[in-house]
Amino acid sequence: MTYPTIVVPDNASTQLEQLGTKPKFWFEDREGTETLFKEGYPGSGEHWAEKIACEVARQLGLPHAEYELATWRGRPGVVSPNLAAGKARLILGNEVLAKVFSGYQASERRRDSQHTLSRVAAVLSNTASVATPAGWDRPPDIADAFGVFAGYLLLDALIGNQDRHQLNWGLIRSSEGRLMLAPTFDHASSLGRNESDKVRRERIMTRDKGRSLETYAQRARSGLYRNQGSPRPMLTLEAFADAHKLSPTAGGYWLHRVAVLPPDSFEAITQAVPDTMIADAARDFALRLMLINRERLLALM
Ligand SMILES: Nc1ncnc2c1ncn2[C@@H]1O[C@H](COP(=O)(O)OP(=O)(O)OP(=O)(O)O)[C@@H](O)[C@H]1O
Ligand SMILES: [Mg+2]
Repeated sequence: MTYPTIVVPDNASTQLEQLGTKPKFWFEDREGTETLFKEGYPGSGEHWAEKIACEVARQLGLPHAEYELATWRGRPGVVSPNLAAGKARLILGNEVLAKVFSGYQASERRRDSQHTLSRVAAVLSNTASVATPAGWDRPPDIADAFGVFAGYLLLDALIGNQDRHQLNWGLIRSSEGRLMLAPTFDHASSLGRNESDKVRRERIMTRDKGRSLETYAQRARSGLYRNQGSPRPMLTLEAFADAHKLSPTAGGYWLHRVAVLPPDSFEAITQAVPDTMIADAARDFALRLMLINRERLLALM
């Protein structure tokens, strides 16, 4: 099995959101669905990282944005149907937290220590105001939207997603005004997608522990902080472990989902990315990274 590559028409970019090196624009696909084309940063593996992450999220049973590999004017990227189609609206984390916590400045900073896990937990555990994602079949072990978010943090730890900042999660306000957690999106800063093939090979081959893939895996940091004022965001594994403590049943559920996922399913996912979209060293590195992170997560059980 190979993932398809959608060819976005050259003239599709009627509403260009952002010019420059990295276009991102909305267009209507052939079925008339409002769809985002997101170009990978030139030379980076953002497109395949996004696709692999999406397929891992699917295997875990997480609500997630759909991504397909795509090209536009020969440039690789991904396409993703609008999570907030029609009259629905996506409200990003910074805006959500600024509404709930007085003094929270809704900045667009990717690194902002106001963005603490305990604040996110307080908002998403409030079942009276925030529901779990629409259309997602909620398992009994997941009591609230924070239980779902704990699964997003487990995904981040598994793929080494360094980018769970305040603009990379949000709520959807439905056309009827109901608030729910948005499916997880934007996982392109993961799986070592920005490393060179030379570094990838070195990290796989080295006997120097400090240069090893295990050490690389341990260093991944989330965009979530333990405390406001902390100099650095939490490690991805710490962020999940903290969420697990706050919501033990949900955390345990997501760990169980990883435990029952056979390791070769990760290989099947990486193998399904076409050769034209990923180099062998990148595929190998991404797979090994996930298998190491899988073991690190299972050690929390
Ligand atoms: N499938 C989607 N449905 C609705 N909105 C989306 C979708 N994908 C992305 N967006 C919106 O576009 C924004 C940017 O997309 P994304 O986070 O995937 O890319 P990015 O590379 O982080 O770009 P940026 O650096 O501009 O945040 C998101 O914060 C979100 O508001
Ligand atoms: Mg983003």
